[in-house]
Amino acid sequence: MATVATVAIVGLGPVGLTTAVAFASQGHRVIGFDIDENRRAEVTQGKPPFYEKGLEAGLKKALRQKRLSVVDRMDDAVRGSGIIFLCVGTPSKPDGSMDVGPLHDAAKSVATAWRDEKTRTVVVKSTVLPGTAESVVRPLLQAAGVPFRIAVNPEFLREGRALEDALRPDRIILGVDSPGTARILRALYRSSRCPVLVTDLRTAESVKYATNALLAAKVSLANELANLCDGFGVDYDEVLRGVALDPRINPQFLVPGVGFGGSCFPKDVRALVASGTANGYRPELLEAVLALNERQFARAIAFLEKELGDLVGRRIALLGLAFKGNTDDVRESRAVPIARELIAKGAIVAGYDPAAMKGFSKLVPEVHLVNSVEEALKGADGCILQADWPAFSGLTAKDFRGLMTNPVVVDGRRILDPKKMRGVRFHRIG
Ligand code: UDX
Repeated sequence: MATVATVAIVGLGPVGLTTAVAFASQGHRVIGFDIDENRRAEVTQGKPPFYEKGLEAGLKKALRQKRLSVVDRMDDAVRGSGIIFLCVGTPSKPDGSMDVGPLHDAAKSVATAWRDEKTRTVVVKSTVLPGTAESVVRPLLQAAGVPFRIAVNPEFLREGRALEDALRPDRIILGVDSPGTARILRALYRSSRCPVLVTDLRTAESVKYATNALLAAKVSLANELANLCDGFGVDYDEVLRGVALDPRINPQFLVPGVGFGGSCFPKDVRALVASGTANGYRPELLEAVLALNERQFARAIAFLEKELGDLVGRRIALLGLAFKGNTDDVRESRAVPIARELIAKGAIVAGYDPAAMKGFSKLVPEVHLVNSVEEALKGADGCILQADWPAFSGLTAKDFRGLMTNPVVVDGRRILDPKKMRGVRFHRIG
């Protein structure tokens, strides 16, 4: 039986709660803490404060099996555990730089709560710029005079499949301060069957940012190539089939659309641009990745105008309000600029999403939220599909022609089959 570790998870957001449930399901003892008492209460009652497939069932099971408990005081989280994961958010400041405040406060609170001579391992799982664990977390623990080990273990969770990614990661990155720390964390992850890279703290932090920068760049490059394909009058998919015959080019994550959203890519790439510039190197390619992404949504609206002319008074269906399918997360969702631009052009927007309506209504209150695809499409002059929800991928010409006044459809996530769009004025990016 693998040794059961007692793990504290500080921060019960999308990363922390998913990590907590994953560790509990692997047989470890997990103590959860969050400074937000409402969040503590929701988690204790088995209700994740956000939508994530499979998480509620996993959480209820972990609570029922008493493998996961939530405590009201940081003292109990620290003193009851041997490994402490910091999973707090690192939001963007207005200038795009990373706000390390929550991480600083969490680390300080951990150091203050320690108050005994037990050696514990503090693991930074929050996405932090290279050098943060050494410059922010380590000094706080040193100042408290506690016997600690420190590590960086970035997460690569994709929303909508985060629990799957936590249970079956395709790689584990361990930035450590000593071989002993590596041994402790390898034992914790013993049930994972993926490659483990053991490196130093700063390199582990760098791997996370480089990964997200590369993935975001892939999306923007796919969008650029698709925009070029539009001009050449060729189908991007066919071109990519040819390109992917080159073994050096992996075709994954090269799906063009209305641009990337979410709480990670925009934030992490902006933080890289800000920190690079502050360090004297301006990452111009990453600036271009962001700039192209900012504008990409407009291509969907341009197609509507090409087909419908002036959009004043036109009723447009916006299918998918979350930043992608299988999540209720609307952070940086491209549905926001799309809706705002349509409304600015005088259109009437009917929005529908299986999970993100509540969150979206606060962002663009002028959008008329409706409760089904049919209601959104009924009488519509045009439609933009913005999130790759499974509920939308089966839509055919019959749906659009049967419900819409003008079947003008833009597939912004490339999930509809053009061959099933006979009689629809259909466009997808690229
Ligand atoms: C991403 C990374 O994938 C994950 O490893 C990291 O831990 C967090 O950030 P996530 O933001 O949940 O995960 O979503 P992801 O599936 O990566 O998509 C991000 C955005 O890019 C979405 O808006 C999606 O629609 C868009 N996208 C993705 C594309 O436009 N084209 C693609 O080919 C892939």
